[in-house]
Amino acid sequence: MTECLDAIYQRRSVRKFTSDPVDRQIVEKLIQDAQMAPSAGNLQARDFIVVTNTAVKKKLKEAALDQKFLVQAPVIIVFCANTPRSSRIYSGRGELYSIQDASISAMVMTLAAHDMGLATCWVGAFNDADISEILMIPHNIRPVCMLALGYPADTPDTPDRIDASKLIHWQSW
Ligand SMILES: Cc1cc2nc3c(=O)[nH]c(=O)nc-3n(C[C@H](O)[C@H](O)[C@H](O)COP(=O)(O)O)c2cc1C
Repeated sequence: MTECLDAIYQRRSVRKFTSDPVDRQIVEKLIQDAQMAPSAGNLQARDFIVVTNTAVKKKLKEAALDQKFLVQAPVIIVFCANTPRSSRIYSGRGELYSIQDASISAMVMTLAAHDMGLATCWVGAFNDADISEILMIPHNIRPVCMLALGYPADTPDTPDRIDASKLIHWQSW
């Protein structure tokens, strides 16, 4: 396997982290890596909010169905869809594009983090309005997902996948 495929197959969602902090430079490098993800028209309609403050992490946890690992994670990165940046060119389609721009950068970051010996867990279960209020996100910017980030304290098994042959529709649905 290539190193890229190896990362794709070995990456797991990790929900237990060591107490080791993640250096600011590493977070900045990961965001630079995430920025290499594709984006519609290369408009990069995404912004990243980095949270390390424990009090704020507690609030995010409460806005995310009380998922406790969010407080244990040294860093939470909130991926935001910057719809105005995309809609300037793509009008109504910009909303969907900005959500895709943010999501795909989060996916790239999961792999980059894995490559650096870090672990992530994607968190999508949260109350958008609460997250926006806690982080003072402008009304036209949408929090799409969060990544809990830290050094892994667990090596989860690979959850089963639906056999791809059951999901493929050749030529049409
Ligand atoms: C859109 C989306 C939302 C998710 N939301 C959560 C979440 O809120 N909490 C959580 O613990 N994991 C969440 N996950 C992680 C999934 O549970 C995980 O990716 C899945 O079980 C497969 O495990 P793996 O990532 O180790 O392959 C989410 C993943 C995605 C893509």
